[in-house]
Amino acid sequence: MIVTVTANPAIDRTLALPHELARGEVQRLTGSESQAGGKGINVSRALRASKLDNLAVFPASADDDFTHLVEAEGLRMLPVRIDGKVRTNFAVTETDGTTTKLNEPGPHLSADEATALVAAVVTASRDADWLVLAGSLPRGLDSSFYAALIDAVRAELGEAAPRVAVDSSDAPLEALLASGTRVQLIKPNAFELAELSGVADGDALEADPQLAADAAGWALENGADAVLATLGGAGAIYRDADTSLFATPPPTRVRSTVGAGDSSLAGFLLASVTGASPERALAQAVAHGSAAASLPGSGVPSPEQTQPDLVSITHLALTGDHSNSTATSTKENAS
Ligand SMILES: Nc1ncnc2c1ncn2[C@@H]1O[C@H](COP(=O)(O)OP(=O)(O)OP(=O)(O)O)[C@@H](O)[C@H]1O
Ligand SMILES: [Mg+2]
Repeated sequence: MIVTVTANPAIDRTLALPHELARGEVQRLTGSESQAGGKGINVSRALRASKLDNLAVFPASADDDFTHLVEAEGLRMLPVRIDGKVRTNFAVTETDGTTTKLNEPGPHLSADEATALVAAVVTASRDADWLVLAGSLPRGLDSSFYAALIDAVRAELGEAAPRVAVDSSDAPLEALLASGTRVQLIKPNAFELAELSGVADGDALEADPQLAADAAGWALENGADAVLATLGGAGAIYRDADTSLFATPPPTRVRSTVGAGDSSLAGFLLASVTGASPERALAQAVAHGSAAASLPGSGVPSPEQTQPDLVSITHLALTGDHSNSTATSTKENAS
């Protein structure tokens, strides 16, 4: 079982215009739709598509429109009551492909609401293999929140505490890694890993998997036991203390990369709960991410839509292991 936490959920509301957006004018939409959004929800949605039992925890009242959307999808959920209303993020789409995003600030969580969220996550984590902390933090939660949450889970559950995977960025991720609270996995993209490690920029990491693996090495020394770094169309790398791997995607007709990284994480977890090797888990991560990229919108793939056997895995040099650094990469099939 996997628990996902979406501390800062949002209703993603798409407003479709039949022409250009004209400021100051009244314009008719050709359609509008709402979906429950937030990285933890996306991971839960992708896990559910693979029939992996999971529970989505988020702060929202039971009668919030957001909660109704999650419920309507049939996701297993644990909403933690708050006074405020879940924010809505609007995406205004024009026919030429332009999208304008207008994001609400969202509610301000009180200290009591933060405490209730921690308590709910601790309780939910009792039977969990993995605890996934995904996305940004709402107003009212200090950037130290993720570390405090993990500490609370470990204090209560001890050895039985789930492994922790984090897909976040900026202050919440930086504060977590600086806190001394270790996590089993982080899932940055190239830009997030560049920002975090200070090693080159995101474009450079996407272009050079060895450089991305070096940057991941920085994260290993700073609080993460393993790094799954997705590199957009280039694939992904996996790095832990004794393994450094690069995976390239299967042939993919890209429709929408929105949420692809969240599907990558779901694919990795899916493989890891079956005891798969890092090679297999990385292959499933890239297969899941690329299958998600081939689907429209924020669609998530079923396992049948993924092609892990078409993911090619290359072994990279372990940074600092100079005996290895001049060796040529060996290539093997993930299967
Ligand atoms: N152009 C592409 N072609 C093939 N696969 C892609 C492409 N873009 C993304 N992917 C797949 O999706 C995975 C995740 O992509 P990316 O690194 O862009 O994630 P991300 O930035 O974390 O996305 P998000 O946070 O929006 O979910 C990649 O590892 C790859 O498998
Ligand atoms: Mg991402």
